[in-house]
Amino acid sequence: MQTDTTNTSPESIKAAAIVVGVYAGGELTGAAKRLDTATEGVISRLVETGDIKGKANETTTILAPANVATDRIVVIGLGDREAMSRKTAFEAAATAAKSLASRDHGTDASFAMLLDEEWPVDLRESAVAGACVGCVGQDLYQGSKSMFPLANTVWPESWDKTSIQSGLILGDAVNLAKRLVNEPPSAIYPETLAAAAEQAAGEAGFSIETWDEKRLDAERCHSLLAVGRGSAKESRLCIMRHMGGSKEDPTIALVGKGVTFDSGGLSIKPSAGMLTMKCDMAGSAAVIGAMYGIAKLKLPVNVMGVIGAVENMVGRDSYRLGDVLTARNGTTIEVHNTDAEGRLVLADALCVAVDEGADKIVDLATLTGACVVALGEDIVGVMTNNEEWCNDVKKAADTAGEAVWQLPMSPEFGEQIKSKVADIKNVGAGRWGGAITAAKLLERFVDDRPWVHLDIAGPSFLDKPKSWHDAGGTGVMVRSLIELCRPEA
Ligand code: BES
Ligand code: MN
Ligand code: ZN
Repeated sequence: MQTDTTNTSPESIKAAAIVVGVYAGGELTGAAKRLDTATEGVISRLVETGDIKGKANETTTILAPANVATDRIVVIGLGDREAMSRKTAFEAAATAAKSLASRDHGTDASFAMLLDEEWPVDLRESAVAGACVGCVGQDLYQGSKSMFPLANTVWPESWDKTSIQSGLILGDAVNLAKRLVNEPPSAIYPETLAAAAEQAAGEAGFSIETWDEKRLDAERCHSLLAVGRGSAKESRLCIMRHMGGSKEDPTIALVGKGVTFDSGGLSIKPSAGMLTMKCDMAGSAAVIGAMYGIAKLKLPVNVMGVIGAVENMVGRDSYRLGDVLTARNGTTIEVHNTDAEGRLVLADALCVAVDEGADKIVDLATLTGACVVALGEDIVGVMTNNEEWCNDVKKAADTAGEAVWQLPMSPEFGEQIKSKVADIKNVGAGRWGGAITAAKLLERFVDDRPWVHLDIAGPSFLDKPKSWHDAGGTGVMVRSLIELCRPEA
C-alpha cells in the first residue's frame, strides 16, 4: 500500500472515497464537519434521522455527494470518544478498508483516510495497520477476486510519517502471517514454510538457519521427528535471529507450532474437524510475521524465533499409540493420542530455544480445542511459569489491543500427565482442563526459563468474517509480539 499525507481541504480532495469518523452520539470529527458543511448537511441529516449513530464500525456510504470532489464519503462509527484505543482505531480503519475493498476501484484509485486528524501517534499507527489488514482477504486462489486491496491511501497532514511507516510495517507483518495460514496445505508444508521464513528473513534483514531431518536427528529432536514420520513431506526447524540489542541484553525467544496440516495421525480427526487444520501452523506464522516486523522496525532488542514445522499424517511409518519418544532434553514421552502432536513438536522446539540462549520464552500454538471451549474464538489462552514475564506479555497484548486471558497452572494438572512406562504421556487424565494439561507438558521443556504459552487455537482462524476482517487466517498476536519487543516509550 502506498501512503501519503494531504493538506488539501476535504471538499477538494479528488478520491475514490474519503473516509471520515463519527463518535457515538453523532459527534462529527474535523473532516466530517468540513464535508458536512460543503454538502449542506448530508452527514448531519443522517445523524438526525438516526441512520448514523456513531456506533463502533457502523459503515455508511454516501455516493456522489454534491459540491465535493470525491466520488463517495464513507462514514465510519468510532464508538465512545473516551473509549478510543488502538483496538478501536485498528478496527475502524480496517472496517473502512474492507468495505472499500469489496469492489475494484482500479489501481489508480486513491482513498483519503481522515478518521480523526487529532488522534495521538499510537492510534495513528493502529489505524494505518488496520487499513492494511482489513482490505486483504483469503481469496488467494480465486479467478475473480473477492477483495481488492487499496493501493493508495492518503492520511491527515497532521499525522507524522513515522507513525504511518510503522503502521504499514505492522500491517504487512500481520498480513504475512495471515497469508501463510490461508495458503492451502498443498502449498505450505514444512519445506515451503521454512522457505517462506527464509524469504521474510531476506526481505526484513534477520538471519535464519534451517535444520533438515538429518540435522534434526543429529540434534536429538526425536519427539518432533516422530510426528512428521507419517508424512511424505520432510520436517524442518528454523532458528531466526534479530540481534538488535547489545551483547549483555537478554534474548527473547518466540517459539511457534508449525503443523502445516493436522490430520490427527492414527488418532485421526473426523472430517469436519480436519477441514481447517491448515491453520495448525498459525503459531509459526505469527513468529515469522513478528520477526519480519521486529527486523523492519529495527527494534533495539535481541529476539530469536524458533519454528517447528511438521505435517501430521497417516502413513506406513506413522508414529503409534504406545510409542515412547525421547525428546531433545532426554525426557521420555509415551504417546496416548497422535492428535496431541503440537506439544510433541513444541517440546523439542522449546529445548532448542533454551539451548540456543533464550533468556525468556513465549510460545504460540493452535494447541487445544479445550482452550476454544474455555475462552471462545476471540480470546487467546495464556499460561505461564512466571507471573512477572506473564504480566509483560499480557500488558503488551492489552496495549496492542488483542484479547488474552490467563488460565491457572495448578500442580494437579501436572499430575495428570504422569505415565506408567515413561516420564510423561502426551494427554491428561480426561478431557477436562485440556488446555492446561497441554501447557503442563510444555513446561517440562523450558528448563525454568520465564515462559509464557499462548494457545491461539480459537482466534487464529475465523469461520465467519467480521466487519473489519475477512474469514480465514487472522495473524493474531503478531502485533502483541512486536509490542512486547518494543522498548518502553
Ligand atoms: N490442532 C489441534 C487443536 C485445534 C483445535 C486447533 C481446533 C484449532 C482448532 C491439536 O493438535 C489437537 O488436535 N488437540 C487435541 C488434543 C487432544 C487429543 C488431547 C484436541 O484439542 O482435541
Ligand atoms: Mn492434533
Ligand atoms: Zn494440532
